[in-house]
Amino acid sequence: MTDTVAQRNFDESYTGGGAPWVIDEPQPAVVALERDGGIGGRVLDAGCGTGEHTLLLARRGHDVLGVDFAPHAVERATELARSRGVDAHFRVADAFDLDRELGAGGNDGDPGAPFDTILDSALFHVFEPADQRRYADVLHRITRPGAVVHVLALAESEDPGFGPRISDAAVRDAFADGWTIEELTSNRYRAVARGGDAEALGVPSGTVVDLPAWLARIRRD
Ligand SMILES: C[S@@+](CC[C@H](N)C(=O)[O-])C[C@H]1O[C@@H](n2cnc3c(N)ncnc32)[C@H](O)[C@@H]1O
Repeated sequence: MTDTVAQRNFDESYTGGGAPWVIDEPQPAVVALERDGGIGGRVLDAGCGTGEHTLLLARRGHDVLGVDFAPHAVERATELARSRGVDAHFRVADAFDLDRELGAGGNDGDPGAPFDTILDSALFHVFEPADQRRYADVLHRITRPGAVVHVLALAESEDPGFGPRISDAAVRDAFADGWTIEELTSNRYRAVARGGDAEALGVPSGTVVDLPAWLARIRRD
């Protein structure tokens, strides 16, 4: 079930440039996660955007699929993979349809379900609470028992910031059934502040900022 307005808005954010999350490199939190052994088995990068994390993980030898419901994001990710010479797989897919779309495996050589690791960098936080729970249910259906979901999400904070900021309770609530929250700690999400976002932070437009975030490690029971 796709929210078509959201899909169109996200898709357009990839045609004009200037999306705050497009930083042309992987998130430092994800680089550290991979370096510290947090990624294993068959991996899904959900809401992959321009694919920096899929590319990072593919380059590091992981069996990874990047999916996003914005066709222009997947186009840019595919082009980046080509220009950087990385063998990486991407598909246009809605996070709420992943069990239907990936359940039987990819039909063009990419890995399908079940997955051992889900990487969610700044996807979970864009959903309303009911959709966050629905999304967690979908992830449950496409992962093996013992699989791990990593959620990196912008955090509610007294510090100025921008974007959809969530409480740690939102993560705990969505993954209450069938999951164990093994770790939920403060981290940072790197973004580019422009226009009103930059004004809110009191920095020049175009400044790269590290915003308060949660990093959760959630294990499927
Ligand atoms: C804030 S961006 C984060 C992109 C990337 N993961 C990163 O950290 O740079 C959120 C991404 O999720 C995608 N997205 C939002 N809702 C989605 C859905 N229902 N299914 C699949 N992708 C979705 C958007 O198109 C966008 O690329």
